[in-house]
Amino acid sequence: MTNFNFKFLGAWLVIVASITGLQAQNDSTLKGKDEMVPAGVWNDVNGEYINAHGGGILLFGSKYYWFGEHRPAKGFSTEVGVTCYSSTDLCNWRYEGVALSVSEEAGNEIEKGCIMERPKVIYNKRTKKFVMWFHLELKGKGYEAARAGVAVSDSPTGPYCFVSSSRVCPGIFPLNMTEEERDMQWNMEQFEEWWTPEWREAVNKGLFVKRDLEGGQMSRDMTLYVDDDGIAYHIYSSEENLTLQIAELTDDYQGHSGKYVRLFPGGHNEAPAIFKKDGTYWMITSGCTGWAPNAARLFSAPFIWGPWTQHPNPCRGEGSDKTFGGQSTYVLQLPGNRYLFMADIWRPKSLMYSEYLWIPVRFDEEGMPYLTLSGKCNLSDGR
Ligand code: DGJ
Repeated sequence: MTNFNFKFLGAWLVIVASITGLQAQNDSTLKGKDEMVPAGVWNDVNGEYINAHGGGILLFGSKYYWFGEHRPAKGFSTEVGVTCYSSTDLCNWRYEGVALSVSEEAGNEIEKGCIMERPKVIYNKRTKKFVMWFHLELKGKGYEAARAGVAVSDSPTGPYCFVSSSRVCPGIFPLNMTEEERDMQWNMEQFEEWWTPEWREAVNKGLFVKRDLEGGQMSRDMTLYVDDDGIAYHIYSSEENLTLQIAELTDDYQGHSGKYVRLFPGGHNEAPAIFKKDGTYWMITSGCTGWAPNAARLFSAPFIWGPWTQHPNPCRGEGSDKTFGGQSTYVLQLPGNRYLFMADIWRPKSLMYSEYLWIPVRFDEEGMPYLTLSGKCNLSDGR
């Protein structure tokens, strides 16, 4: 296991720090020799291992708050909850404790032993509440529940109070499903065999949207995005991980407004991470290969509702066909039109020791975002 050496990232963060006015607290993290180790485990300021996987970062006031999955050394279920770390420089992280704890109560939706993944926190200026959304799987049910959970707090670090969990927009069709698609009558038995041309066509036309209409759309890998006008969006892998959906949140960010769209039906996108630069929305996702890395995908749109266009893999150089061993989780927008791509290098034999891969997003002459590593790539094979 490599210890994350932040020499390269550190140098970049020094630039960020100078732009943002943030001061690095511990220069030793930012200085070093030549070789860059692109990823690794990372310790907090007390020397304890940072356990915050599939996470995201909220900038509030002058501090960054990193929320992530607390993962055990063995097993796949959530025994603790969502952790929070804070930093003023993105390099030195202080453990703030468990922001959202699992429940000890049997039958509770977030009972210890459930699965909480990919937590993201946004701040609602109107209610002055911090709102956390996460992918929730119910205890003992594998990945079949496919729910979105929401929790709120008056303070960024928590404790967050669990509000509810559900699938998304029950009884409502996506905005971009045609009348014809809405009226289709599907016989599910006809589609027990997956990946046939007929099945693909049916998926594209909304087979699973219709199957799940009453109970709501499935929601697994997810992120949140707050637009410049304060409207927030939930972006999630739906329809058996085959199709991404973007759903608008209510004004208080604690529910869905009912407006949502489907993106790339049958495209098999997971791990969405979204950002906006100069009026263009960009999204980086992964394919679906469990814990094993695959090639990242890049999409752009002039409006959040689309039309979305796919571009070539944003990763360049050695390891780019496997996202340098990682899987996207978040893109942090920093002052000065700077963006930080965050990914996880999963270690399913001991998820706790999954590594962090953070790369500054660069833009080429055409304004196309790309990700590159200047050092040796330490590829993970998802084991
Ligand atoms: C890939 C997802 O991106 C992860 O968050 C996790 O759900 C794993 N699949 C589980 O296999």
